[in-house]
Amino acid sequence: MDKLIVHGGNQLSGHINISGSKNASLPILAASLLTKEKVTIANVPDVSDTNYMLQILSALSAEVERFSGRFNIEAKSVRTSAPYELVRKMRASICVMGPLLARLGETRVSMPGGCVIGDRPIDLHLKGLQALGANIEMDGGDMVLSTPNGLTGTEIDLQGKHGPTVLGTDNVMMAATLAKGTTIINSAACEPEVVDLANFLISMGAKISGAGTRRIIIEGVEKLHGTTWNVIPDRIEAGTFMIAGAMAAGSEGITLNRVNREHMAVITEKIEEAGHICNFSHDDTSVTVIPGETPQGCEITTNPFPQFPTDMQAQFTAMFATTPGISLVVDTIYPQRFMHCSEMKRMGADIDVDNGRAVIKGVGKLSAAPVMASDLRASAALVLAGLTADGSTHISRLYHIDRGYEHIDEKLLQLGAKVERVSE
Ligand code: EPZ
Repeated sequence: MDKLIVHGGNQLSGHINISGSKNASLPILAASLLTKEKVTIANVPDVSDTNYMLQILSALSAEVERFSGRFNIEAKSVRTSAPYELVRKMRASICVMGPLLARLGETRVSMPGGCVIGDRPIDLHLKGLQALGANIEMDGGDMVLSTPNGLTGTEIDLQGKHGPTVLGTDNVMMAATLAKGTTIINSAACEPEVVDLANFLISMGAKISGAGTRRIIIEGVEKLHGTTWNVIPDRIEAGTFMIAGAMAAGSEGITLNRVNREHMAVITEKIEEAGHICNFSHDDTSVTVIPGETPQGCEITTNPFPQFPTDMQAQFTAMFATTPGISLVVDTIYPQRFMHCSEMKRMGADIDVDNGRAVIKGVGKLSAAPVMASDLRASAALVLAGLTADGSTHISRLYHIDRGYEHIDEKLLQLGAKVERVSE
């Protein structure tokens, strides 16, 4: 297992390119199963989650060719079930369910395991697929789905107790593209990654309207054809590096290229509310982040897009740990997603976590300590905390970060941070 040593105190400067979105790539790669024809997908980040998805596609008998971030996928013939040993490694594997059901009329997918950020049910996925006509049975930890009479369009509401479901919306939308008749998804997720998937499906010949709103309408078609696609930038990677700039850049700031300003509006707003400066290029594809003179704590409550994303709250908590004043972080999506706080407290942070909320009192400086990564975003938050801490912070279980951040150590080095990846 690797660990990352972050030597604190170096000022960041310079620029990096933001990679393609992990959370757009995963459902888009799965959607390539909906056609026998060749699909070319570019700007897929080289992270372990996308590599798992590619292994799953190969295990399903799709032909996968890779040329750096560009993939050719041809699912001429497809097996009905994805292997447990691959599916259990990544919850997002669940998004092969919709495509396999639509393409083959049957599929067997293992129930996703638990996750440190909290309960990760899939009841809404199953509710949507059942409404389209799927029979679902459990067999030894697997879900066995079949559609004796094919899939038939219908009106479905995917509202859960914590709001809409991103991958649930994806699964039902993908299945509905080949259903008979029209499907209406109410309480649909509006995340940019859902919109990117919808646009990808439309480029394959799907008939979809309303993506990006709470009501998506899908008119089923006979079949879908091949396409070429460029995945959108990763707004969470971009947001993570914006926080790095706000915390540790010099007066020139750092510049992030290949971003999408619109996707990060609420992240930018909160960084500016905390007293830092975000200057976008005229075409909104680059942003320079400069630390403010008088940073101040603020309040964050996570909600479904277009409100504040749960995937960014840990990173802001790292910034608030040394921001003067009191900050409050409430996560309504994953109330248990505060594993990073106990690790930051080992570094001297003053954080009280209770019942899905964290109250953070800014301290002057954190001190390095050996800490342990727990989930993808919590691990990124610990790297951020290490950038300005006194001493060298050792972050173990780096595989958590490698799931969703492409070459994070190389990008940090490019920005002048002093980091070392070592095997432990
Ligand atoms: C996606 O997960 C993202 N992952 C997550 O990012 C992100 O945190 C999450 O959306 C919320 O924005 C990918 O896109 C691969 P949900 P997803 O279904 O789709 C509840 C990261 O760090 N729920 O939108 O699995 C659920 O428990 C990852 O990149 C149900 O109750 O999340 C949660 O409270 C972490 N029943 C809420 O809805 C269901 O059937 C939102 O979950 C499904 C979900």
